Amino acid sequence: MAVTGVLGVAIEVPDHAVGRQFYTDAGLEAETADGRIALRCAGNAEPSVTLIEAAGPMRLHHVGLRAGELDAIAARVPGHGGKVVAVPTGFGGDGLWIEDIHGVLFHLVDKPAVAEAPVAEPFAINAPGRVVRVRRSAMQPVNSYPPVRPRRLGHVALFTPDVAASAGFLTGALGMAVADSVADVLAFCCAAKDSDHHVIALAKSSATGMHHLSFQVADPDEVGRGGNTLAAKAGKGQWGFGRHTIGSNFFHYIQDPWGSWFEYYSDMDFIDDHALWQATSYGMEDALANWGPPPPADFIHNYQAGPAA
Ligand SMILES: [Fe+2]
Repeated sequence: MAVTGVLGVAIEVPDHAVGRQFYTDAGLEAETADGRIALRCAGNAEPSVTLIEAAGPMRLHHVGLRAGELDAIAARVPGHGGKVVAVPTGFGGDGLWIEDIHGVLFHLVDKPAVAEAPVAEPFAINAPGRVVRVRRSAMQPVNSYPPVRPRRLGHVALFTPDVAASAGFLTGALGMAVADSVADVLAFCCAAKDSDHHVIALAKSSATGMHHLSFQVADPDEVGRGGNTLAAKAGKGQWGFGRHTIGSNFFHYIQDPWGSWFEYYSDMDFIDDHALWQATSYGMEDALANWGPPPPADFIHNYQAGPAA
């Protein structure tokens, strides 16, 4: 056993109120406890994002992962360049806290996966010779839709100064697997069994940092609708609507108040058994998207390493 999925992240931000506004605009539910703000997808017990107020620029505090057999993981961590560390101040004593080879903090918790509630109505597309939707419109009047609510945090994308070394730690120490990659600049890591195409994505940078958090919504329409609405409210950068080659998901990214990104996604590849999956090394032309608008100039800038030029 090993890592089976992502639980959430904790980030240090200079202004609680700004963060609370952004994530509630994105459709998460906020709760203040112990001086922090927990942001949950509706119906989820675990917060997807925890905001810790701290002076200075936004900083990733830790990534929470669901995992099994924590003792075995703890035994493997030192041999792969990481270390088991003490429980950080202000956090509970459950689970296992570790740092990877670059000092990135992970909290592993032995919790079973929660079954996803199925969508009320599957996305139905009429195609040549395959009509599946008759006598009804796919689209309703624009003002009739409720706000988009993310269903769960699906993956976290992290910056690292050494993609191969970080991926080696996730696979060797945490039992994850590399689903696909792009040269030495991107690696997409999944759980070994029953996993979204990626749970942790790694992108090359001069320093560690958080590139984006990605939330699953019901269907591609919600990706576009949610993306447009949040982009208008947030007032910063956006990239979408588009579709990735790697992972196949539809995406719409909205820039958060600190320069990182919030992604709505739908229809990601699923890997039931990595041993039966064909891992591919893609070219740079497939690194970002299969199709979509051009990304903003600062889409892959690591604001935790310094301001954009
Ligand atoms: Fe993503």
